[in-house]
Parts: sequence; structure tokens; C-alpha cells
Amino acid sequence: MISKFKQLVWAAFDKSKPSVTATCSHIAQTSESDRLTEFLISGYHNKSSHLGEEDLVFFQEFNVHCAFKYHVVKEILNDKDVFGVSTVHLNLNSLYFSRDEALHMHNKKIALKHLTFLSKEFQSSENVRVTKMFDIFLNHTPKDQPFNLVDIIVKPLLFLNSMDEFGLFESFPEFNPESPDFSFDTTVQRIIGFYADMDNLTYMLENYLEGGGKLPIRVNNLISELKVDHEFDQKEVVKFVKSMIFATVESTGSYVTSLVYEVYSRFPEVLSSSDLPLDKLQQISNEVLRIHTPVPFIFRTVTNDAEKYGKHLKTGDMVVVYLGAANMDPSVFEKPAEFRLGRSEKHLSFGRGHLACIGESASFRMGLNVIQNIRKENRFFKILDSEPQFEFENSMLKILQLNVLLHDKS
Ligand code: HEM
Repeated sequence: MISKFKQLVWAAFDKSKPSVTATCSHIAQTSESDRLTEFLISGYHNKSSHLGEEDLVFFQEFNVHCAFKYHVVKEILNDKDVFGVSTVHLNLNSLYFSRDEALHMHNKKIALKHLTFLSKEFQSSENVRVTKMFDIFLNHTPKDQPFNLVDIIVKPLLFLNSMDEFGLFESFPEFNPESPDFSFDTTVQRIIGFYADMDNLTYMLENYLEGGGKLPIRVNNLISELKVDHEFDQKEVVKFVKSMIFATVESTGSYVTSLVYEVYSRFPEVLSSSDLPLDKLQQISNEVLRIHTPVPFIFRTVTNDAEKYGKHLKTGDMVVVYLGAANMDPSVFEKPAEFRLGRSEKHLSFGRGHLACIGESASFRMGLNVIQNIRKENRFFKILDSEPQFEFENSMLKILQLNVLLHDKS
């Protein structure tokens, strides 16, 4: 089944593409949106050839401009007059995002006010709930039998922690590992299902609300303070909740898995030293995020006609901004494929400017907490895949399979 994300991205492109008529059948749209996804992914895979091309490369077939070079990408992200919105964002979540910059900035502040787990203040501290869940998950994993760390630990851990942060255990107690209704196997399967098809989460939330269920107070309070420039219904509320959960878990899952893999393979001393070297972990994280950019491309829509990079840009034009290419630009990162700690220029993996990520500190904390838990355990993982594959899932680049064995340390 085609993912909702692809359809939403396609819908945003479709509007900027007059050659496609509104009478397209669903089938035609599906295959068009698959072709679009393939095209966007191939842009990422061919990044090194595009780095040598123009500052903004125009692809006629999809009527889309693409930016690959570090300085161009950074400039576009910071240029809110010309590249002010992302219609893909508006399609995904029209309560938080707005065409009106003042509303969007207000909503960003409100999200940061209510979602205190995003605060930088906590980024180096342990999250005891994560520690508890980590323990529960380890106790359910078979000893001396290989299992996929991503499906059995990373995804469920992040998903359940995020549900808890949003207060959703109130509404769905069966997901709470401390509830008597919790079943490890069922929960893991359901969470794998959410990642495989985000519509599964939509259905769960919609059914719950249609059956008279209430959203948690935390989410209601947040929504009540958002400034939204239109009347909205329950479906938009569901989109908001789903989009915030996925923002929290998808890219962080990619980062945490890559971090575990890189720490094991390049910096095993981090796992065994008596004190956890925080500065070093931060530097490792930066290289992990640069080389394995979880969100390799993002979108912008031109908000005002402009002459830029030798091109005439019209209002409504779509621009794909390749963060994953910019992070490998050799004119900024010498020998970009080399893992080097302490590079002077920072990666662009959290975006920049007015649409930049609000989850940088929270994701570092998750990475840190997972490494802390691995260090603390009197059992240890042996990673069985020496070169795991990075693959696209929901337009994010990740290791989907990292097979490990769990041994006793002694
Ligand atoms: C390693 C983990 C993460 C990565 C790589 C990442 C990446 C990104 C990127 C690239 C953007 C900018 C999109 C754009 O400019 O079009 C973004 C935006 C956003 N991210 Fe993250 N993200 C991560 C974790 C999180 C977490 C933990 C949250 C928790 C709420 C989060 C919430 C958001 C939100 C709400 C936005 C939209 C911000 C705005 O426009 O106001 N992200 N993220």
C-alpha cells in the first residue's frame, strides 16, 4: 500500500505542476507519486555528481528545482522571504504549520512551552522511563539468539517514550509497559506496523476519538494555544498528533541506530570507559548525523517571484533541498566520507532558519540514554552485521536491520 507520506508529498508537488490534471485516477496518482519518490531518492544517491552542477538544478519532468551544495542549501533555508513555506509540511500538519510566518513562529514557541522534553536543559540527563523500558525490552529478548535491534529495541523504545511524552498512555494504556494490559510481542508488532504504514496510527487515533475517547490534557492544552488561521476538524487534530509523533520518532530512530553502530565499530572505548565522555559523544553524534543524515531531503515552496542562482523562480515553485548532499560537500567538509571528530563546520541535518527542527536536544538525549543503558547493562550486544545497509523508509535514510546477539558480560 502506498504510504500516506508519498501521497501528501505528491499532492504538494501536484499543485505546482499544471501539466497534471485534477481528473487523474487514484492509480495514476499512485504511480506518479511512486515515480516522484524514486526521483527524489535517486537525487540523493547521485549527490556527488550534482555537487559539480549548477547551484540550483532544474528537473523538467517534475518541474522542480533541487539544491545540493552546502552554501546554497544553507542560504535557501535562511531565506524566508523567497523560500518561506513548505507545502509538504502544510499537507502533513496544518495546525502547527502555517503560510503566515508569525503564526508559525507562535506555534513553534507554544510547542516548546508544552513539550518540555524538548528543552536543552535536559539533553545530558538520564530519562528514567527510557531506562525502565530498556530493561523490560532486554528482558524479553532471547539470549544467544540473533535479533534485529531496530525492530525489537530502537523503534519501540522511541515510540513508547514519545507516546508517554505526549501523555498518550492515558488514552492507550495497553501501550504502557507498566500496565497489566501490556504485552511485549503485541506492542512490538503494532509499532512495527505504524512505521510500515503511518495510516495505521491515523486509524487508531481516529477510531479512538470517534468512539468518544479524549485526547490527553497535555495535547489539548497545546492545541488550544496554537494559532490556526482556519476552522479545523477532528481529522486535522489526528494529523497534528500523528505528525508530531512521527517527527519525534522517525528521524531519531535513524540517528540512534547509526549512533549505536558507529560507537560499536569505531569508538568501543565509549562503551567501556569509567566515565561517559559527553563531549566526545556529542562530536561522534555530529559526524553520525552528517554522514548518515536521517532526513536527506526536505522541501520548500517559493513564496515570492525572484531571480536566484541564475533561475527565474515563480511563486508556488517547488524546491527540494538535499541536506544529505550538503553534508557531504567536499568544499566544506574535507574528505567528506571520512569520520573525523571536531570538524569546524556544522552539519545541516536539523535544517536551519525559521523551519529548523525543535528536537535536536531531545534526540541527543535519546542517543545518550541508549548508550548509557548499553554501558550499564551487565549484558552486552555483539553486532553481527559488519556493514549494515542504509535504506529509505518514509523518505528517511536508516539502517532497517541491525542484527545483534545478547550475551552475559561475565
Ligand atoms: C536526529 C533526530 C532528528 C532529525 C535529524 C530531525 C530533522 C529535522 C529537519 C531536517 C527538520 C526541518 C524540516 C524543514 O526545514 O523542512 C525538522 C523539523 C522539525 N522537527 Fe525534527 N528532527 C529530529 C528529531 C526531532 C524530534 C525529537 C522532534 C520532537 C518533537 C522533532 C520535531 C520537529 C518539528 C516539530 C519540526 C518542524 C519545526 C518547525 O518548522 O517549526 N524533530 N526536523
